[in-house]
Amino acid sequence: MSNFWSVFITVLALANIVGCFLLIRWTAKPRPGEASADETTGHVWDGDLMEYNKPMPRWWLWLFYLTIIFALGYLVLYPGLGKFQGLLGWSQYDAYEEQVAEVEQRVAPLFAEYAATPIPALAENSDAMDTGRRLFANNCAVCHGSDARGATGYPNLTDNDWLYGGAPETITQTILNGRSGMMPGWKPVLGEDGVKEVAAYVYQLNGRTSPNPELVEAGKERFAA
Ligand code: HEC
Repeated sequence: MSNFWSVFITVLALANIVGCFLLIRWTAKPRPGEASADETTGHVWDGDLMEYNKPMPRWWLWLFYLTIIFALGYLVLYPGLGKFQGLLGWSQYDAYEEQVAEVEQRVAPLFAEYAATPIPALAENSDAMDTGRRLFANNCAVCHGSDARGATGYPNLTDNDWLYGGAPETITQTILNGRSGMMPGWKPVLGEDGVKEVAAYVYQLNGRTSPNPELVEAGKERFAA
C-alpha cells in the first residue's frame, strides 16, 4: 500500500469515528430555549399529533459511546489504519497459515500410513478412497470427467484399455511424472525429400488421389521401412 492510500484510509476511518461522536453530541443536547420536559418540537400531524422535544435516553447514548470506544480499541489492536499493523501483530495471512499448518499436522500420520500401504490394499480402505475421490474431483475431473470416463482427447480411466499400463506402479508413475504422448521429428532421419515422399504417401491413405504418384510410390517404401 502506498503512503498516500495509507494516510487516506487512516484519515477516512478516524474522521468517521469523530463524525459519529459529534453527531451524537449534537443530537443529544437539549435544544436551546427548552423550558420544560413537556415542550414539543412544534410539529403537528393529523391536526393534534405532536412530538415531545426530549433528549435521547442515556442508556441508548451510552451504547453509541461504547461502540466508538470499541472501534478505537480495535484500531489500536488490529490492522485497520492504513499501514499500521496493530499492537497484536495479527494478520489474516498468519491466521490462514496457522490453520493450514494445524490441518497438515493432523493429517500427516494418516498420509504416512497410506504411503506405507500397497496400492491394492489401499483401494480397499474406504477412508482412503473418500480422500482419493475428493482429490480426483478437484484435480483430475476437469479433463477425465467426474465419472473418470474421459472425453475426446482425454483417456477413459474406467475401462481396461490403458495407454501406458494399468499396474499400480504404472498408474503411480503416470500421476507422478505425467505422460505426454508424442512423436519425434523425422527430418534428421529421412531428410526433407524423404519427408515429402512419406507425406505424399500418407496424404492418399484416406482415399484422396495424389497428383504425384511417383512420390507416393517412394513414400510407400519409406513408410514400410
Ligand atoms: C489437463 C488435463 C488432465 C488432467 C488435469 C489430468 N489428466 Fe490424466 N491424462 C490427460 C491426458 C491428455 C492423458 C493422455 C496422455 C497421453 O496420451 O500421453 C492422460 C493420461 C492419464 C492416465 C494414463 C491412462 C492410460 O491409459 O495409461 C492416467 C492414469 C491419468 N491420466 C490419471 C490422472 C489423474 C489421477 C489425474 C489427477 C491427479 C489426472 N490424470 C489429471 C489429461 C489430464
